[in-house]
Amino acid sequence: MKEVNKRIFPVAASLRTFLSLILIRVVLTAKITAPTPSTQFSPSLSRMEQYWSGSAINKNKGMVENLQSYGIIKSRKVAEVLENIDRGLFVPNGAQPYIDSPMAIGYNATISAPHMHATCLQLLENYLQPGMHALDVGSGTGYLTACFALMVGPNGRAVGVEHIPELVSFSIKNIEKSAAAPLLKDGSLSVHECDGRQGWPEFAPYHAIHVGAAAPEIPQPLIDQLNPGGRMVIPVGNIFQDLKVVDKNSDGSISIRTETSVRYVPLTSKEAQLKGE
Ligand SMILES: C[S@@+](CC[C@H](N)C(=O)[O-])C[C@H]1O[C@@H](n2cnc3c(N)ncnc32)[C@H](O)[C@@H]1O
Ligand SMILES: *[C@@H]1O[C@H](CO)[C@@H](O)[C@H](O)[C@H]1NC(C)=O
Repeated sequence: MKEVNKRIFPVAASLRTFLSLILIRVVLTAKITAPTPSTQFSPSLSRMEQYWSGSAINKNKGMVENLQSYGIIKSRKVAEVLENIDRGLFVPNGAQPYIDSPMAIGYNATISAPHMHATCLQLLENYLQPGMHALDVGSGTGYLTACFALMVGPNGRAVGVEHIPELVSFSIKNIEKSAAAPLLKDGSLSVHECDGRQGWPEFAPYHAIHVGAAAPEIPQPLIDQLNPGGRMVIPVGNIFQDLKVVDKNSDGSISIRTETSVRYVPLTSKEAQLKGE
């Protein structure tokens, strides 16, 4: 359909590209001149910051259906876990949990947009099988950590690490209300306060590592804690960021590819984050 349109209206198509480029410039310029790092979105042409918005989508199930219809959720397993863990339990009171947007959770942090959570779950699905170990760095609200826990199950391990103590307590309260509560009680799901750049050696090696904040470069301790055959998904960069897929091969060598452009808050020190640097 899009192809046909382009052939019939080449001028309209290139005008549209031109306008989108201007729009992106405006957005990026706004970012640079007004340093409010608490928002998070993907500025690439192929992956716009928002797939839907507004109040038509007022239920968790509707959010999952939207993610499916936009092709972001591709598998039954990812759909199931997002149906079972209600995003509404993880956002601050008064926020709209089911629109496709990141939201401020205080401390200059955000809960990522649903399409980013779904994208990361799809990329990690094969590394989140029952019994496997998963590490969520910058676990924030605990939403994705809870999803990981449900996927790896009671014989696996899902570990969240977060450096803001108030967010660690917030995430534990959220998880206790969710379908992952029994796993938190069992101990197969845990959240720890620490600098996530050091990982969490206690339950290493991990089959899946997710990093929810953008690192200037990939922290070596996280590579070290990845199981051979395992996968890490991590945003890398400063103003321009790429979501990198880091695979550790069975011989211990590393393969890295870029999935898409993204915009996350930085993976940094607690002090720098609270100052908004
Ligand atoms: C964009 S938020 C994502 C949170 C989570 N994925 C979610 O959606 O709720 C990034 C989180 O990383 C945390 N963070 C940043 N740097 C960190 C570090 N060095 N160690 C641990 N957590 C960090 C922030 O406090 C924030 O909660
Ligand atoms: C967030 O960053 C801003 C600077 O952009 C800073 O003034 C503010 O105190 C920070 N907020 C919190 C809650 O740490």
